[in-house]
Amino acid sequence: MIVVPSALDNDSCDTAIRGSFLHFKSDPDLSGDAHEYLDDGLLILKQGRVQMLVDAAEWVDYLPDGTVFYDYSGRLVMPGFIDTHTHYPQSEMIASYGLQLLDWLEQYTYPTEAKFTEREYADKIAEFFCDQMLRNGTTTSAVFATVHSASVDAIFEAAQSRNLCLIAGKVMMDRNAPANLCDDTEESYQQSSELIERWHLKGRSHYAVTPRFAPCSSPKQLELCGQLLDEHPDLYLQSHVAENLDEVRWVAELFPKSRSYLDVYDSFGLLGPRSVYGHCIHLDEQDRERMAASGAAIAFCPTSNLFLGSGLFSLDAARDHGIRVGIATDVGAGTSFSMLQTLNEAYKVCQMAGQNLTPLKAFYLATLGAAESLYLDHGIGNFDTGKEADLVVIDLQATDLMQKRMESALSLEERLFALMMLGDDRCIQATHVMGRRQYSRAT
Ligand code: GUN
Ligand code: ZN
Repeated sequence: MIVVPSALDNDSCDTAIRGSFLHFKSDPDLSGDAHEYLDDGLLILKQGRVQMLVDAAEWVDYLPDGTVFYDYSGRLVMPGFIDTHTHYPQSEMIASYGLQLLDWLEQYTYPTEAKFTEREYADKIAEFFCDQMLRNGTTTSAVFATVHSASVDAIFEAAQSRNLCLIAGKVMMDRNAPANLCDDTEESYQQSSELIERWHLKGRSHYAVTPRFAPCSSPKQLELCGQLLDEHPDLYLQSHVAENLDEVRWVAELFPKSRSYLDVYDSFGLLGPRSVYGHCIHLDEQDRERMAASGAAIAFCPTSNLFLGSGLFSLDAARDHGIRVGIATDVGAGTSFSMLQTLNEAYKVCQMAGQNLTPLKAFYLATLGAAESLYLDHGIGNFDTGKEADLVVIDLQATDLMQKRMESALSLEERLFALMMLGDDRCIQATHVMGRRQYSRAT
């Protein structure tokens, strides 16, 4: 059946958004036809879900009475950004000077996370974090809380009050960290089980079993993580792997029987679909083959990897092996909440490795690619019919410099590249979550 504009009625439309729409249908590395761009488009929504993306001039006069209408003509509208790995409790210690991973954890991270014994404090930082997400056009995040159960309640509550899509979990760590941050092995299983009951698949919330990283978990705790996954097959698992060479050596000492760092997790059943591993810099061929076969995802964290001097992630190696990859801020080792700034540094990491990150691939990684890596692409990641209408409205003229640069950026690709190199939260004019505007930049 051909749908004609006059067929629009209150059963098929309650909200409409006009602007220049860009979204992806597939990976630009795999198809020359991966993106769709409508210079003057109209997104028609019903109850927060996409009904249609159509030509605005043809359809705008047929919106039924009572339609909530947002006119972003001349602005770029993309699916909301998806951050596949970050730490909300580290929001306030972002940009702490001068150390690499293991010393950075000891000196800055653990003392900061110890403050989350207080629920009031956790609420304050959780609110701040979710506001930063919206301010930067991010509508889905995979988030580490702290070892304290209440820190998980705080972030899910803050996200739910904004209707954000969130993957989060209680950090599990029962050794090799300050005593006030270590949990009891059995208790960590119990607490995680309770949190799963409370939050998993409630609204847009998903629970992730969250062992911090192998050095901080006893074999027994990793075994219990595997047990949690077995008991709840649709859970996420998030952790860190192969970020820093001293960390890799430490894991080899702690788990001498494992072939590699990744193999430690694999041996406890922690590698599969919906397993999301931050960093993955120092992997070998066998690790990559195993990651690809398992369906696990890599969270590529460029600002963090440069900031902590951890190394250069190989996006080409991940692509050649067919591994799922999303992009991630990794705040507070990452230095920005902005996905635009994160893409900027991803480009430079690729340059340093003799690789190439095209602007189309970059924005795919921040939207549909990330959704695919998290197995959430049935609901988010682009503007296909039926999807949840999370979107970001971008002002390409937000600064004097961007205005100047855009004068000679004639193609879509050129404009996108200038955006990811020069843009940040100043470019985010508005953020919508399931159709509703949750953030609007002050004029
Ligand atoms: N490895 C273990 N914990 C952390 C953390 O909080 N941040 C980063 N970047 N790496 C880690
Ligand atoms: Zn991290």
